[in-house]
Amino acid sequence: MSSSIAVSAQGPEHAPQAEQLAKKLGLPRAQPGRHYELLLHCCDTGLELVDKREKKQKRTVRVDFAKGQAAHRRRQQKKEMLVRAVGITEGMPPAVIDATGGLGRDSFILATSGCRVQTFEQVPLIAALLEDGLQRARLHPETKKIAERITLIQEDARITLQRMQRTGQKTDVVYLDPMFPKRQKSALVKKELQLLHILAKKDIQPDRLFLAALQAARMRVVVKRPVKSSTLTELPPSHSITGKTIRFDVYMI
Ligand SMILES: C[S@@+](CC[C@H](N)C(=O)[O-])C[C@H]1O[C@@H](n2cnc3c(N)ncnc32)[C@H](O)[C@@H]1O
Repeated sequence: MSSSIAVSAQGPEHAPQAEQLAKKLGLPRAQPGRHYELLLHCCDTGLELVDKREKKQKRTVRVDFAKGQAAHRRRQQKKEMLVRAVGITEGMPPAVIDATGGLGRDSFILATSGCRVQTFEQVPLIAALLEDGLQRARLHPETKKIAERITLIQEDARITLQRMQRTGQKTDVVYLDPMFPKRQKSALVKKELQLLHILAKKDIQPDRLFLAALQAARMRVVVKRPVKSSTLTELPPSHSITGKTIRFDVYMI
């Protein structure tokens, strides 16, 4: 990570959390009077990542499933292409491994549709933001049940997928959303993606992740792609679900 980054606390009551996080993530505590490009900020509303690289425009990313876009998408879930791609039918929600958890929006949509989701995120800072959002969602009456269906594992998903291959264990569906090569229209997505791009440096070899996914899935593997980009590997998908900007390639097992 090339940016300077530190952990800050809104007030003394948030200091123990900031201390604990700094230790866990191997980051310094923010020192008064020093400028940092990114701040992981512990505050009343939860954990947020503040991008201070542009002086005029401070950007903040936090995971909040109870409000905003995530809540909207939850209401719109029937329309979600993701739900169709994963093959969710009434009363039969598959068990899903979301191997590229990120900020958890897709995991949340799947959990909203009844799936039990094991979400993997390999970048500790991103996993910390997601865990914070999930913890708050577990306390909110509207999102509690959904959030309880999601288990977050901070690890390279390949470790688990390869172990499953060795032991012959399977899950119903493996879902992959490897980092897009930039270009997104919505300002919100842009803001979040920019930060994910900075942090998720290790999002490499998604083709290997895909091959491991094929071995671990009982029913299908679903890969999210930008609408015009090529498939992740040379293997052609069984079918694709195509929207305006994104596409889901579905590989039936
Ligand atoms: C485009 S983002 C996923 C966004 C996510 N679908 C959402 O709805 O918020 C890709 C994420 O996958 C993570 N990732 C990539 N390869 C991974 C792996 N092998 N194991 C775990 N996480 C991985 C990256 O760190 C990054 O946060």
